Amino acid sequence: MKFYLTTPIYYVNGKPHLGHAYTTVIGDVIARYKKMKGYDVFYLTGTDEHGGKIEKAARRMGKSPKSLADEMVIYFKDLWRDLNIEYDFFIRTTMDFHEKKVAEIFEALRSKGYIYKGSYSGWYCYNCENFVPDDAPEEDGVKICPDCGSKTEFITEENYFFKLSEFQKPLLNFYRKNPDFVQPKFMMNKVVSFVEAGMKDLSITRTSVGWGINVPSDPSHIIYVWFDALFNYITGLRGEFEHYWPVDLHIIGKDIIIFHAVYWPAFLMAAGFELPKKILSHGWWLVNKKKMSKHTGNVLAPQILIDNFGADALRYFLLRETTIGLDGNFSHESFIERYNADLANELGNIVSRTITMALKYFGGVLPAPGPEEDKDVEMRKNWLETEAEVKEAYDNYEFSKGLTFLWDYLRSINKYLVKTEPWKTGRKNPKRTSRVLLTALRAIFCSSKFVYPVMPSSTGKIIKAIDGENLDFSWDRYKEGRKIKSIEKLFPRIGKEEFFKEETKMEEEKNYVNIEDFRKMGLKVGKIIEVSEIENADKLYLLKVDMGDHQRQLVAGLKQYYSPEELIGRKIVVVSNLKPVKLRGYESQGMLLAADIKGKPYLLDVPGEVPPGSIVR
Ligand code: ME8
Ligand code: MG
Repeated sequence: MKFYLTTPIYYVNGKPHLGHAYTTVIGDVIARYKKMKGYDVFYLTGTDEHGGKIEKAARRMGKSPKSLADEMVIYFKDLWRDLNIEYDFFIRTTMDFHEKKVAEIFEALRSKGYIYKGSYSGWYCYNCENFVPDDAPEEDGVKICPDCGSKTEFITEENYFFKLSEFQKPLLNFYRKNPDFVQPKFMMNKVVSFVEAGMKDLSITRTSVGWGINVPSDPSHIIYVWFDALFNYITGLRGEFEHYWPVDLHIIGKDIIIFHAVYWPAFLMAAGFELPKKILSHGWWLVNKKKMSKHTGNVLAPQILIDNFGADALRYFLLRETTIGLDGNFSHESFIERYNADLANELGNIVSRTITMALKYFGGVLPAPGPEEDKDVEMRKNWLETEAEVKEAYDNYEFSKGLTFLWDYLRSINKYLVKTEPWKTGRKNPKRTSRVLLTALRAIFCSSKFVYPVMPSSTGKIIKAIDGENLDFSWDRYKEGRKIKSIEKLFPRIGKEEFFKEETKMEEEKNYVNIEDFRKMGLKVGKIIEVSEIENADKLYLLKVDMGDHQRQLVAGLKQYYSPEELIGRKIVVVSNLKPVKLRGYESQGMLLAADIKGKPYLLDVPGEVPPGSIVR
């Protein structure tokens, strides 16, 4: 009973965002659920560190790709720690054993004839690390990537090719025999159509990229980042490959379904490995209807949510809010609403109410209960039904559905307490009160079984407080006589306004400049002494400015708003240490300050007695 599952390995060109957290949380919930069911689980995650995209990002930041990767890996690992992710190994594609193994597999496929040398030209998208199709849209003679909207670059390369075209039939056969290979079904259909439409051989090396694994027999070629990355699922198992392969579940976002459901099985068939059992493809988190992505910059940092609500609440929200496979729109409003409704008002409230009464009436140890009445029997029977429903949903990775059933049941515990009114029987009728509290505690205890994979930390606290440790989660195993202890408030209610105030404060703090930043601005007073026009420029003037100890020229967009007469002799504030730029062939040695009202500039006035060259601070 082994279960091997993986997340994608994430690119290190930026910090992790909510989208990455989503996939990794799904994996952790499944890993914990399987462990609880007795599986021997291996959960792999990691980072994808090679390729042109990382190379370019590092160059932009003036770093080496490896040092960029080293830096980013810390953010990923910290986030996984803060989200309570129990992975078994974190693979980085720059690890020696990975690089060696990928090169080895490449050479093996080459000697088997699955890889050959050829030449290739095409428009390449560095963001997606993929050639775009011939019919991709064009802008100013440059093809635009249909997937992400980036400008592509035309490259001609002598490349090595993988004979993908030979795998059309074997792949279609495989899909026919394994119709549930990709979940959800509509993604499986998409994959089948893609393969049915026919496939060209795949270019799997680059010479235009320098950062990656060299082809050992032809080192001017770098192995294509996707060929490199996909094999992490094999290398990441290291000594335990025999034990855990084939992989039971790849969890991915739908953006990379073709790589996983088409290219990857083809590579594996060629290399003679068994194929993955299942791919679970989830949808996208959108912010303002657009995919959250590093490329567009509309990313949401999970840390603010973890800091304010706790990791468990974020995990719960991610799983509950959308069905795996569909897109979800993220907003703080919906997050806070769900937190308050499901966690503060239901789970948190039920637990604290029940424990408080057990402490108040019986000092935490329930005495022998009276016989079960109808309402009590109903709670017990409803649990058995709920358990079956939730289990079926979880087994199919339908967590949102499972949690809906589970929360219906939790709500029924609250209603049960309202109906049975144990606060009325209290110490006067200990047998009845004990029966009601025992029933509520059993319902909480049994529900914990399915709350646990999603919210492990809160569940741990609940189990501890109700003294349910080391019991299996069944109704009868939890009996009166256990020592109930008090529990901290698990999910304190959060007001929307409070949260947004706090968040605005944090945003403002992020935008603060400190005094050292400000002192770097060389603001000085200058006096305009000459104004001339620039040929063919209807917005610009060329100004000569007296700066006290020297003169300099500025190119300024004032022509539509000021006449030369209004400007000559006028004193202005100049950013004197701005890096000079050339505008229309003239060097502009600084910038002047003006107020902006709907695009119209209003020059700042300088009092008459202030001489040119004065420092402004
Ligand atoms: O594609 N919503 O890495 P990547 C939901 N290195 N999930 C999202 C998301 C969003 N808005 N944005 C990203 C790569 N993800 C390759 C993978 S695997 C051999 C190589 C998640 O950093 C989702 O799981 O672009 C998606 O598939 C993955 O991050 C892409 O991460
Ligand atoms: Mg991506």
